[in-house]
Parts: sequence; C-alpha cells; structure tokens
Amino acid sequence: MLRGKRILLGISGSIAAYKSAQLIRLLVKSGADVKVLMTKSAQDFITPLTLSTLSKNPVLTEFVKDDSGQWNNHVELGLWADLFLIAPATANSIAKLANGICDNLLCATYLSARCPVVFAPAMDLDMLRHPATNANMNKLISFGNSIIKTEHGDLASGLIGKGRMAEPEHIFKFVDEFFEATGPLKGKRVLVTAGPTYEAIDPVRFIGNHSSGKMGFSIAEEAANLGASVILISGPTNQKTDHPLVNLVNVTTAQEMLDSCTQYYGESNISILAAAVSDYKPASVSDQKIKKGHDALAIDLKINPDIAAELGKNKRQDQFNVGFALETENERANAFEKLSKKNFDMIVLNSLNDEGAGFTKDTNKITIIDKNNIVMNYELKNKREVAKDILQAIISRYEN
Ligand code: PMT
Repeated sequence: MLRGKRILLGISGSIAAYKSAQLIRLLVKSGADVKVLMTKSAQDFITPLTLSTLSKNPVLTEFVKDDSGQWNNHVELGLWADLFLIAPATANSIAKLANGICDNLLCATYLSARCPVVFAPAMDLDMLRHPATNANMNKLISFGNSIIKTEHGDLASGLIGKGRMAEPEHIFKFVDEFFEATGPLKGKRVLVTAGPTYEAIDPVRFIGNHSSGKMGFSIAEEAANLGASVILISGPTNQKTDHPLVNLVNVTTAQEMLDSCTQYYGESNISILAAAVSDYKPASVSDQKIKKGHDALAIDLKINPDIAAELGKNKRQDQFNVGFALETENERANAFEKLSKKNFDMIVLNSLNDEGAGFTKDTNKITIIDKNNIVMNYELKNKREVAKDILQAIISRYEN
C-alpha cells in the first residue's frame, strides 16, 4: 500500500524511541522508502546503527556529517518527503516546532518541509494535559499538521494514564489510511463546529442545549472520508472520532468556540457550522453555588458572540461557509434571513416540527438553500447520509 512513498521519520528523545525500530520495519515492509532523522537526545534511547540497518538508509543526526564536513541539507530532506512523521514527538520538540525554534536538524527540516507533517506525541500524563502543551499542539494543528492521539497505559514515570506514544501498528495504520485518502476534498481544509456550548451560571450549573454532536461529527468524518483534512471544534458531547484526518478540538463556551474557529479559519477552505451555540450567557458567573432561597430567581443574560457572523465578515473569495438553521416556526423565512445576515454560501435548515429531525436523534430531515436561492428538500435519513448529502451539495457549488 505504501509502495514508493517517501517517509521521513523524525525521532526525538523519549523512551518511546525504542518503538521506532518496529515502526520502521512496518513501513519498510509495506514498500515505503524511509529516511530517519534523530535529535541528540533520541540517540540516548536507540542507536542510529539499529535504525539505519532497519531503514536501509543512513540516519541523520547533525547539520554537518562529522567525518567529511559535508552538509546534511534539511531543505532537500523537507522537499524529498511525501510525509514527515515525528514519532516520538516529545513535549520539548512540540514546543520548539510550534514556536519556530530551529536549533537542530529535525527543527530545521520541519520548517523546510512542504509535505504533510504528522506528530505522534509521547510524554507523561501531566505534561500532556498542561495548558502549554495543549496550546502548542493546537498551534501545530492550526498550521495544518496532524496529531496521532497518545494512548492510555503504563508510563515511564510509573504513573498510569494517557501520554504513551501510539503503538507502532496504530501509527502505521494512520499513515496507511493517510495515503489511501482520496476524493474530491483531498487537499482541502474543512472546519466543522459541533455540539452545544455550555455557559456557566455558577460552579455547578450552566445554560446549554440538547445538541448531541451527532450531526457535526458525522459531517466531519464524511468530509474526511472524501479526503479533506478536518478541524472539528466541538462543545461538550459524548461523541468520539478516531478518523486519522479529523483533528478534534474540545471547547466549552461560545467564546472558546469563537477563539478556536478564529485560529483555524484563515487556513480553512470550507467551514460548516453545525454547532448549537448558546446565543446568551449569564452576565456574571457566581463564584459559589447559588443557594435555594426565594420562590423565583432571575438571571441576567448578555449576548454571546455570533461565531458564524464573525467568520462571515472575514470570508475570502476562496472560502465557502455553510450554516445551519434550527427552527420551530417560519422555517424558510428565518433560514433565508440567516443565510444573508451571516454571509453563508449555503444554509442547512432543520425543523423541530419534522418528526425525526433535529437534536439528539440518529436521523435528520433537511432543506438546503444556497445563496442563489436554490432550495433542495431531502427525505428523513440517518445523520451519516444527511452529512453525505450536505457535502455533495457543497462540492457541486464550491468547485463552480
Ligand atoms: O448535535 P445533534 O444532536 O446531532 O443536533 C444537530 C443540530 C440540531 C444541533 C444541527 O443540525 C443544527 O441545526 N445546528 C445549528 C443549531 C443552531 O444553533 O442554529 P441557529 O439557527 O440558532 O444558528 C444559525 C447558525 O449560526 C448555525 O450555523 C450556528 O452554528 C451559528 N451560530 C449561532 C449562534 C451563535 N452565537 N454563533 C453561531 O455561530
């Protein structure tokens, strides 16, 4: 499957580097041409000799080859690769690469690479959940890089939790599926929002809604099945995805969803806003749980940012924005109004008056309206099928 594919494997200094040997074997066995780059500290965990033997190529560690004074050209390496896989990627290397630091051959090659870059992080569980690491990983995703999620289990520290580098077989599967991905959206970046937002009232209560995330997650996975590289920004849901082309960013509030959308929007070709965003939030959040007292309680609300409208204001000619309208009355009129007010190219209307449509269910019934006022009605379908219909409608319009 990987015959002829050129894979550059960057190894940074983690105990998980021992798994690189198995990963290289799997890649080489499936026909890939593998070149290996190691940081200095990676060599404390596994020797270049082992990896050059397995990859059948010299392993590169320094800018300059010691004996001959010859230069290891990072630009050429970056141009050579069809895929740059950094596995294991330590918290340190992730931080450096997210911030453009260039103090070793791996960093310089990253900055020169024109091919897709995929990270398989490895670190201790607390390092993984530190906000600094999260911010760095989100930055890499915003550059269009992909992250292979860490796995749960025994860690080198003796702790048990998330942070283990994905097993070589799982990384291999990711790479295999990455190259397998073809389709009309290959090379396109698609941003999808999903789920509800939660707006805190006090430490235990919030304003939210019934969105399960099923519609948004289905769209994200179907877009990835069509070859797109997807950023899925989701409010709190129980949905999961392990699609290699879907990068999930979890948020809670409308403001967080706006911040994430703003971060990724510039790089996106198509944005599909399926989230049910809370229009209002409490004007102030109580520090303590509000006690039961009087017979009635009033909570002042203030307006939340309108994410779709904000993105619509900055939409470029080459971008295509798709909104949703969830209605309970005057469905079409309201959808038309949202289409133009939020500068959408297309809007997907679903009405709670239609049996089986809207929140939580596995099905939906939609009407698509585009900016030329063309209206298309669809039957009640499974949300997977609805997602396919929406993407087909986008593809036929986006390419025109
Ligand atoms: O998640 P499920 O359980 O599968 O349910 C799917 C769904 C019903 C949530 C989905 O199909 C849907 O209709 N999503 C949009 C719900 C909604 O909030 O619609 P709206 O008419 O209030 O908003 C119009 C558009 O503006 C939407 O694209 C919405 O994401 C966006 N919006 C709204 C408010 C806001 N502050 N910011 C926004 O970006």
